[in-house]
Amino acid sequence: MTPENLPPIALVTGASSGIGYEISKELANKGFNLILVARREERLKELKNYLESEFGAKAYYLKKDLSELNSANELHQEVLSLLDELNYENLDVLVNNAGVGDLCKFEESSIEKLETMINLNILSLSKLSRLFLDSIQKSKDGAIINIASTAAFQALPQMAVYAATKAYVLSFSEAIAEEMKNSKSKVKVICICPGITESEFQVRADMSDLKINKQFVASSEAVAKYTVKSLEKGKTTAVHGIINKIGTLLPRLLPRSAIARMSNSVMNKIT
Ligand SMILES: NC(=O)c1ccc[n+]([C@@H]2O[C@H](COP(=O)([O-])OP(=O)(O)OC[C@H]3O[C@@H](n4cnc5c(N)ncnc54)[C@H](OP(=O)(O)O)[C@@H]3O)[C@@H](O)[C@H]2O)c1
Repeated sequence: MTPENLPPIALVTGASSGIGYEISKELANKGFNLILVARREERLKELKNYLESEFGAKAYYLKKDLSELNSANELHQEVLSLLDELNYENLDVLVNNAGVGDLCKFEESSIEKLETMINLNILSLSKLSRLFLDSIQKSKDGAIINIASTAAFQALPQMAVYAATKAYVLSFSEAIAEEMKNSKSKVKVICICPGITESEFQVRADMSDLKINKQFVASSEAVAKYTVKSLEKGKTTAVHGIINKIGTLLPRLLPRSAIARMSNSVMNKIT
């Protein structure tokens, strides 16, 4: 266990914008030190300075492209060395937030984007969870927070691969959460499912032109606050927002084919 005088430390992937940026702020506000990961180094540096001046937290950043095949292993090694240097015996919280989407009919989709999505949203998230688990298990309040999506609950035409990657995140998180509840270490595994959220996600996923009523769009800040509250409450699966909660219940009540048809007509209306 880490010496008592050191605050808990969390690693946040995708900390350079949107939900990950805001989660880093929330955790710093709750007394965590932070390890910030993404590709845009300048953004991470700015966030580090902000967290240190605003919250008195210590923050460190590592530039990493998590869609590259060996990146999770590299990051694991780099973080273990950093923790060692800082006298931390373990990581306390891992936030697997980095993720990308792609709005596109499957027949028109690019193989490169498909690979990036699967490598980042599924492979890296799973590898980081496994690689850091041994370290997190040494924490007295260890947790893994995985950011899925309301897209995890049903097939989503025009975002088929993205929604499938998030269905994986949800299923994977719920399964390991149950394993952990029955293990000695009691690491909490939390799966956060935001609905549409204001961030850089829409631009990257070619979704900027979607006709979405603004009242259904959450802020990244609200999702981050909800994430940290869910961690404190020890929730396993947490869907953000009442409308989203109702929306994710529907697929349990209707035949799967009807749900896929409904998603398709919603997507046709908003694209
Ligand atoms: N916004 C929504 O409507 C929404 C809804 C449900 C779920 N989500 C999920 O929420 C999570 C955060 O997304 P967001 O909305 O905050 O979007 P965002 O503003 O685009 O943030 C995505 C973050 O992931 C990082 N990232 C992207 N590709 C990466 C890569 N190859 N390697 C390392 N880091 C990478 C980005 O940083 P760099 O570009 O600097 O690397 C950025 O920090 C994602 O998992 C997303 O699927 C979003």
